Amino acid sequence: MTIDQTSLPLLLCGVMGSEHEEDLKDEKNPRPLDEDDIALLKTYGLGPYSTSIKKVEKEIKDMAKKVNDLCGIKESDTGLAAPSQWDLVSDKQMMQEEQPLQVARCTKIISPNSEDAKYVINVKQIAKFVVGLGDKVSPTDIEEGMRVGVDRNKYQIQIPLPPKIDPSVTMMTVEEKPDVTYNDVGGCKEQIEKMREVVELPMLHPEKFVKLGIDPPKGVLCYGPPGTGKTLLARAVANRTDACFIRVIGSELVQKYVGEGARMVRELFQMARSKKACIVFFDEVDAIGGARFDDGVGGDNEVQRTMLEIVNQLDGFDARGNIKVLMATNRPDTLDPALLRPGRLDRKVEFGLPDLESRAQIFKIHTRTMNCERDIRFELLARLCPNSTGADIRSVCTEAGMYAIRARRKTVTEKDFLDAVNKVIKGYQKFSATPKYMVYN
Ligand SMILES: Nc1ncnc2c1ncn2[C@@H]1O[C@H](COP(=O)(O)OP(=O)(O)O)[C@@H](O)[C@H]1O
Ligand SMILES: [Mg+2]
Repeated sequence: MTIDQTSLPLLLCGVMGSEHEEDLKDEKNPRPLDEDDIALLKTYGLGPYSTSIKKVEKEIKDMAKKVNDLCGIKESDTGLAAPSQWDLVSDKQMMQEEQPLQVARCTKIISPNSEDAKYVINVKQIAKFVVGLGDKVSPTDIEEGMRVGVDRNKYQIQIPLPPKIDPSVTMMTVEEKPDVTYNDVGGCKEQIEKMREVVELPMLHPEKFVKLGIDPPKGVLCYGPPGTGKTLLARAVANRTDACFIRVIGSELVQKYVGEGARMVRELFQMARSKKACIVFFDEVDAIGGARFDDGVGGDNEVQRTMLEIVNQLDGFDARGNIKVLMATNRPDTLDPALLRPGRLDRKVEFGLPDLESRAQIFKIHTRTMNCERDIRFELLARLCPNSTGADIRSVCTEAGMYAIRARRKTVTEKDFLDAVNKVIKGYQKFSATPKYMVYN
């Protein structure tokens, strides 16, 4: 049979119409669904194993909850193991058996490297003993002068202990390398060269000094007007070397109680000696290194004692050892001559005011990250800042940026720099410490 195009929709309409009527009748008088129907409806869209999977999932969840409940508070919350794992009885037993150790110092080893080596220990406030080793330590672990833990019955050495070092001294170690490199130091070619010679050469090529039979310099004193890059260069050195870098600010060593400062210095050098290679940097050393004088009261000065301990320690360590001492100050004239005598701080590096070329270079360094107009005449700017330090030039750059911000521009123009030079160099002249420094020297 053939149906022409026009009759098809009509035909379909008729079929649908009759079904619709039946539906309506059903809706008016709906047959209640029985349980089988509901069960059938519930399975609609479910896979064959859905129910069993759901059941297992629920079981797992329940089990996990139960386990969590049994564990109680998590280990990470309290730092304790789960209460279900506590074994109080055996812990108590162990505590009774294993008594706390006592701290002693091993002062001498009698007949070392032999079977019946004996150790002389000094227990504070009790007595000296000659003892053997416990089961858990090997003879190679113990050295003379070491702190050790001893038990309370036979005073046998049970564990080697690290040297006692003040936490505030430990904190002085520079862990993160500063992000300053030699490239960030403008000018100062000579100074960098001298510094590297003292710091890097003996550490990298000690044999050269051995061959010649001379001791490399132990330390360097950096001096010069404030803001000429002394601290900056030290930070660059810290970045370059793999050695441990300890930075001490002079005033940190000034302590409240008599003898504390000296003790800190001692512990500082002790810590430095325990490293493979170490650079100790005393910044603003004039805080403690002042020349000794009689203050008229009669009592000697705690600060001077601290300085004497530094002198002592400088004499103490071996020049070929791997400790280098850097010091920085802007009042070299006030330092005690004892600190500066050859053999202690041999090298004295002066940080002068940067010359024209260095100033241009410092300008370039500080504008490197700035959003500047192209072809700014840095030589001209450098010429306009006579007798200014690196810090002054940095201040000029910042001020130029401020002018640009005030004018709501996104780039810094040469005019901004010229204005900034006018403001900083002319305006701040009365605050400058440089002329004063010139007088001291
Ligand atoms: N030669 C230089 N090259 C580049 N920047 C310098 C230079 N000298 C000083 N500065 C800038 O001045 C700032 C202060 O210098 P700093 O080394 O702390 O001075 P001080 O010599 O008083 O320790 C540094 O952070 C650096 O931005
Ligand atoms: Mg400084």
